Amino acid sequence: MENDNKFKLLINETEIDSRVKQLGQIITNDYIDKKLLLVGILKGSFVFLSDLMRAIQLELMIDFMSVSSYRGTMSTGNVTISKDISTELSDSHILLVEDILDSGRTLYEVTKILEGRNPISVEICALLDKPSKRVVDISAKYIGFTIPDEFVVGYGLDFKENYRNLRDIVVLNKYKN
Ligand code: IMP
Ligand code: MG
Repeated sequence: MENDNKFKLLINETEIDSRVKQLGQIITNDYIDKKLLLVGILKGSFVFLSDLMRAIQLELMIDFMSVSSYRGTMSTGNVTISKDISTELSDSHILLVEDILDSGRTLYEVTKILEGRNPISVEICALLDKPSKRVVDISAKYIGFTIPDEFVVGYGLDFKENYRNLRDIVVLNKYKN
């Protein structure tokens, strides 16, 4: 990690690695003998997804979705899909993989959209959870770390598309969320 006072270390690479391996083991046990499809929400989830999928000791498929949600309103229903999955969903158990669960709006909408396509199940695995920011009623079945209400970057998470390549998860100082 850059040794720079604009970052404050929150979760280091070793802690991330061991937690991702634990999650992979739990998911392996939960989905034995099931047809598992990991769906990553672009772009933030791709680093987590790439490690998580290799920590799961099952045959599985992966796909990606890209969505944008409109903020500034307390209402939901405002998600546009700019890239959809192309995988056949019949007989599949979908595990949505996301970098961070914040207000919850994005995953609330994506879950509804995917449930409407009749997979067997839809669950959520979020690397990070900021429960204090939630505005819709949603929770993830699998969570890497619960964090306070601070703006974090690294391990796939960005601020204005920067810092996704940092190996640690760090708080971006002076950023007002
Ligand atoms: P929400 O749960 O619909 O509010 O949206 C979650 C999305 O907001 C995540 O996928 C991130 O792209 C972004 N986000 C929320 N909090 C943070 C953060 O602390 N750092 C970087 N991105 C964040
Ligand atoms: Mg994101």
